Amino acid sequence: MAIPTRIGLAGLAVMGQNLALNIAEKGFPISVYNRTTSKVDETVERAKQEGNLPVYGFHDPESFVRSIQKPRVIIMLVKAGPPVDQTIKTLSVYMEKGDCIIDGGNEWYENTERREKAMAELGLLYLGMGVSGGEEGARHGPSLMPGGAFEAYKYIEDILLKVAAQVSDSGPCVTYIGKGGSGNFVKMIHNGIEYGDMQLIAEAYDVLKSVGKLSNEELHQVFSEWNKGELLSFLIEITADIFLVKDDKGDGYLVDKVLDKTGMKGTGKWTVQQAAELSVAAPTIASSLDSRFLSGLKEERVEAAKVFKSSGVSDILVDQAVDKQKLIDDVRQALYASKICSYAQGMNLIRAKSMEKGWDLELGELARIWKGGCIIRAIFLDRIKKAYDRNPNLANLLVDPEFAKEMIDRQSAWRRVVCLAINSGVSTPGMSSSLAYFDTYRRGRLPANLVQAQRDYFGAHTYERIDVSGSFHTEWFKISKQAKI
Ligand code: 6PG
Repeated sequence: MAIPTRIGLAGLAVMGQNLALNIAEKGFPISVYNRTTSKVDETVERAKQEGNLPVYGFHDPESFVRSIQKPRVIIMLVKAGPPVDQTIKTLSVYMEKGDCIIDGGNEWYENTERREKAMAELGLLYLGMGVSGGEEGARHGPSLMPGGAFEAYKYIEDILLKVAAQVSDSGPCVTYIGKGGSGNFVKMIHNGIEYGDMQLIAEAYDVLKSVGKLSNEELHQVFSEWNKGELLSFLIEITADIFLVKDDKGDGYLVDKVLDKTGMKGTGKWTVQQAAELSVAAPTIASSLDSRFLSGLKEERVEAAKVFKSSGVSDILVDQAVDKQKLIDDVRQALYASKICSYAQGMNLIRAKSMEKGWDLELGELARIWKGGCIIRAIFLDRIKKAYDRNPNLANLLVDPEFAKEMIDRQSAWRRVVCLAINSGVSTPGMSSSLAYFDTYRRGRLPANLVQAQRDYFGAHTYERIDVSGSFHTEWFKISKQAKI
């Protein structure tokens, strides 16, 4: 028995079990522990079946901790929140100065910072590590976002470099993210971007299906074709696959039988809350969250559909003849341009937080580690990395010369899709809010002058002028009354 093992993993649900096997497969003997001990036996059995991998199971926390070589490193993969505190409590009593715990869950970054402080008081190190890629990624190569004590990262850098997804031209999908809860924060934004991507893809599907009348076979063809070009990504690939799956409980395709109510675990909501907290506009991500809320109102929507149908408003307001091929090409461009806006928002959120917390995060490096393993992996992330390599202080992805050109090239198609959707009564909140973001950001002058005047009118909030510096207040009411006379 290879005791002491190199590392430990506690929490053997789907993600934990797969990550443990991945670590063992890369040549690092690993100790595993779970409160429900049957999971321990199941993992050890799987390790045997999958090639006698060096996985050692323990039914009690003490022997688990003691089986690991010093300084000990234990990855926890348990549900975020109280279960993390509980696991830390269980394990830390057997740990010694210099040992380290890593939380691999989708944890709220401030919880990680609180725990890092508490652990430091015990002489223990702590990391909050975002892990993306689902079950498959955990087993064969996830994208890893470790943040916290740099010293702790160094203990296991060799393991993480091998366990992470490997991308041929840009290396392993892991990097030390930064101090404190930065690893969790970056993973949270990754998930916000994931919400945006999924919503935009769903809208492309809706326009093609509802307005373009594409069948599932045609949708499969379209998404497969898109996955060969600039939209190449994991989410486009799985979308193409979904349209192939027939219903095993009846006629037709399974996707048409899936209830239109999107679930969520919370990271997208946190992203939008953080956007408000940081005063950074993230309308595409926010609209994807709103769409999930509205999707949840299934019964209300069914009733509303009846109300409007009885007054003559059907699902599709205008049944217009469309050139299918042109529509497909326009939607592809609209999706791509909208996606750029969404990533620009996510990146700006990370930068704003990094500045607030002094994390010094490198946006290009984050784009690099998202190129493989994670849910938002896409060929286009390479272009984002290059944009930040060209200019690390880029104010917004939209103004990078390459992206700016792409936006200009695609804007006519984008506007056509949004107009067509609006005229057809098909909601495209992600694409529309991305376009509004672009149209707002690219304008040198906005109607904010009028909002400022209104604020000063009713609340004497003052305003600045474009021609003279300083702060001004005007008696708008009095002067306007005089002007009327
Ligand atoms: C990942 C995913 C993963 C999970 C999301 C789902 O990167 O592997 O993001 O973390 O699938 O948490 O989130 P919702 O349930 O909120 O859609």
